[in-house]
Amino acid sequence: MKKIFLSLLIGISSGISLAQTLISIPDTLSGSTINLTIADSTHQFFNGFNTNTIGYNGSYLGPTIILNKGQNVTMNVNNMLPDTTTTHWHGLHVAPMDDGSPHNPIMSGNSWSPSFTVMDNAATYWYHPHLHGKTMNQVVKGAAGLIIVRDIVESGITLPRTYGVDDIPLVCQFQHMDTTTQQIILDDELDNITMVNGTINPMVNIPAQVVRLRILNASSHRVLQFGFNDGRTFYQITSDAGLLNGPVALTRLRLGSGERAEILVDFSGQNGNTYYINQFGNELPAGFPGGPPMMGSPIGPYDNMTFNFLQINVVAPTLSPITTIPVSLTTNTPWNAAGATSANFLIQGSPMMSMTNFLINGVQYNENTVNFSKQQDDLMIWNITNQSMMAHPFHIHGNHFFITSINGVTPAANLRGRKDVVLIGPQGGTATLITKYEDFCDSIMPYMYHCHILSHEDHGMMGQFLVQCLSTAVSVIENKSDGMLVYPNPVNDLLTIQLNASTETFTTEIVNVLGEQIIKSSNSKNIDVSFLTEGVYFIYLHQDNKITVMKFIKE
Ligand code: C2O
Ligand code: CU
Ligand code: CU
Repeated sequence: MKKIFLSLLIGISSGISLAQTLISIPDTLSGSTINLTIADSTHQFFNGFNTNTIGYNGSYLGPTIILNKGQNVTMNVNNMLPDTTTTHWHGLHVAPMDDGSPHNPIMSGNSWSPSFTVMDNAATYWYHPHLHGKTMNQVVKGAAGLIIVRDIVESGITLPRTYGVDDIPLVCQFQHMDTTTQQIILDDELDNITMVNGTINPMVNIPAQVVRLRILNASSHRVLQFGFNDGRTFYQITSDAGLLNGPVALTRLRLGSGERAEILVDFSGQNGNTYYINQFGNELPAGFPGGPPMMGSPIGPYDNMTFNFLQINVVAPTLSPITTIPVSLTTNTPWNAAGATSANFLIQGSPMMSMTNFLINGVQYNENTVNFSKQQDDLMIWNITNQSMMAHPFHIHGNHFFITSINGVTPAANLRGRKDVVLIGPQGGTATLITKYEDFCDSIMPYMYHCHILSHEDHGMMGQFLVQCLSTAVSVIENKSDGMLVYPNPVNDLLTIQLNASTETFTTEIVNVLGEQIIKSSNSKNIDVSFLTEGVYFIYLHQDNKITVMKFIKE
């Protein structure tokens, strides 16, 4: 009944017929150099209507980047937008200066080329802009893409992994579009469109065998509460940042904004049948975006509803289909809490009953304030309490965490793997997380933590923390250290680096006082700084797993 009402509503209000369309499958990029260009574009979601969009290497969304754990990669991001942007590698374990946070801005017409080693376990990650105040604008217009990491553990398991055939990416979004102009509206409270991989009224052909679906909730706001229309059981095999210990049998999958899950579904013997992945919004608890409305928030057309999100046409099996669900996957070993220090994070509406404006520990994000500092190798426990009227998907940059308890109890089996977003319920919901930052430190540039509801994040529901280097590893000093020297100082045009070790392998980064990386180079002892504006700069010298930070003046 509800479903019929909804399609009538949308059919009438948009005046456009609702033929199902095969979803597009994003192209893939792999190798040690990944080139991304972000630019304004237009995209025809509806025939005859040009919707203004932003895409990476295309008109809407971006290619899927496929990486292998252990490889080195250089990401060249070229910003052709008329505006500043950043590109964040959501979930990847990288140094703050390679992370694409608000502290790594790419000016219009410029590019940014972080290089790093892929250290993450096999799972589905993603990338998207993260410029403070503009994140929602750029992401909902289409700037987002998937990152698939593969590793030897995952490769050793019998799993579907033919991209687009039995291993299918599903970038799921709720969007708000003006029903006459078909332009994307930033008011996501009233989302009236759903799409998968940028396709509206989506359907997908799936072979009659065990398939793997990589699901990303790339919505700015709403929570996915997915299940199949025939009530079938499916098996979750990954949480955000890695394989679960074993497949977890489920009939519902709940994902907040930014969360990912890979699931296995067995369609063996069902060739010719049609099924649906449904959104069961009416099963969400009150206060979860997309669920029953809370006092004070508008009721969007997709709130508190069950409806078809994706049509599945089961087609002939492939030549060598996977037909089994593995028994076990990996062994996740959460950090032992002994010796950890805990920090408390209190989420509150501002004012208290607000459904739009939220504070973490009483403050809004301020780019010049570091909210707290930790040392490299500190074992950290995060106790998060949500006193607001709404659920929030809480995300931490730089490393995965494990959820040790949620609302005071051990999390469900599908939440016991590596995570980087945790969905915390309203009115007293809690989560306790444990994590440790061992591989990177930076005494200047912080990591972010924030709500992944993009309007909340843009409104300042975000903070930042430093992982300070152990004192032996780094020191910020003037222009020389232990026989290392950068000269002349002050410098006009050419900065020369003198090393103290025999190794000729090093990288340098020049960072301004705002923590913005201006120049990055490898193995070059002479760096042209002639184009820098006058002022104080830091040079980060990475060598033999040590970072030396020296300061110089450009005049
Ligand atoms: Cu996907 Cu800081 O975000
Ligand atoms: Cu992130
Ligand atoms: Cu939030």
